[in-house]
Amino acid sequence: MAFTIGIPRETEAGETRVSLVPDVASRLLKMQDGIDVVVESGAGEEAYHRDEEYEEAGCTVVDREEVFGADLVVKVAPPSDEELDFFSEGQALIGLLDPLGRPEAAQTLAEKGVTSFAMELVPRISRAQKMDVLSAMSSIGGYRAAILAAERLPRFFPLLTTAAGTVKPAQVLVLGAGVAGLQAIATAKRLGAKVFGYDIREPTREEVESLGAKFVELEVDIDADQDESGYAEELEKEKQERQPELLKPHIAESDVVISTALIPGRPAPLLINENAVEAMDPGSVIVDLAAPNGGNCAHTETGETVIEDEVRIMGPTNLPAQMPVHASQLYAKTISATIEEFLEDGALTPDFEDEIFDGTCLTHGGEVRNDRVRDLLGLESKEQTNEVAE
Ligand code: NAI
Repeated sequence: MAFTIGIPRETEAGETRVSLVPDVASRLLKMQDGIDVVVESGAGEEAYHRDEEYEEAGCTVVDREEVFGADLVVKVAPPSDEELDFFSEGQALIGLLDPLGRPEAAQTLAEKGVTSFAMELVPRISRAQKMDVLSAMSSIGGYRAAILAAERLPRFFPLLTTAAGTVKPAQVLVLGAGVAGLQAIATAKRLGAKVFGYDIREPTREEVESLGAKFVELEVDIDADQDESGYAEELEKEKQERQPELLKPHIAESDVVISTALIPGRPAPLLINENAVEAMDPGSVIVDLAAPNGGNCAHTETGETVIEDEVRIMGPTNLPAQMPVHASQLYAKTISATIEEFLEDGALTPDFEDEIFDGTCLTHGGEVRNDRVRDLLGLESKEQTNEVAE
């Protein structure tokens, strides 16, 4: 019997992406022997892929129950409670499972005997780059944030010389120059704005400058250490507290602030306080990409747009879903690379010696494997369990 891969229709509000697009499914079917791909009718609709395209690609269009009965279910958004109910022992699941935000779902998957892989946990090593869905989605987020800001700002982005006079370019400040921040900088630059970038990691200075933006230097020694994955370590409390006041004059001068500062698993740092918003010109725009993690701005409301002191503060939660075609295409490519990595001869063979398999696997054999998630669930870490067992 062939190993079946199931592509459900996403049901989370506002989710438009699909986990596998027809041409990526077709390539996967050609590369891997002994697999079938079953797709829920309408799964690709919001990403502009019809059922017939999936059929032409060699997939079978089926109903929801059959998709969730597949050997491996591939999702975009974390499974809802209704979707969790479908799973049974021996099945596998790949997707953005929000393991740190929804540890109890991991617990349920473990109890059901599901082997699950959280794409958020893919190690940041070069061999796993092709599976790096977070970077792919953050690039889209950064791009969309700049476009949204340009659309909402009651001014031009570029310098314009017209018969009626010259218009100054908009000033854009991007806080956090990781994947999303750098893409926001590049996009705002292409739209003609005067762009500034800020981060606590010294290596980002060169990246910001290479995009033609200016790096903001604060009068405090902020050079956070990086961990081995390139993530910043959290700043000391005293430095964290000084940051918003030091950033205030730079924020006040900006027409647009796009904030993306985050350290994974921590609440987003507060960088834009009430005073800074008050000091901005009326009509200015803040797009806070860190909204799902509490936001970098004191006024941010997750998923909402609020207006404070005549400044528009947007807290979008899923910008990639605003570009379902490319977001699904890039998502599907990272998923297909992951399937290629984990599947051998039409079977999913656990290999915990492999850094990528081990790092990405959230649940297996009835257990939550990831120590940070175990910690959130009040469970002993795997390391400790092993030590006790020895
Ligand atoms: P990343 O880890 O590549 O970048 C985050 C950057 O923030 C790092 O360069 C880090 O050094 C910096 N940072 C951390 N603490 C800071 C501080 N106190 N001051 C200044 N900089 C600081 O992450 P990535 O992929 O760029 O994502 C950034 C954020 O955007 C994440 O919160 C992600 O969830 C979010 N995002 C949101 C989307 C949405 O639709 N709302 C879409 C895509 C990404």
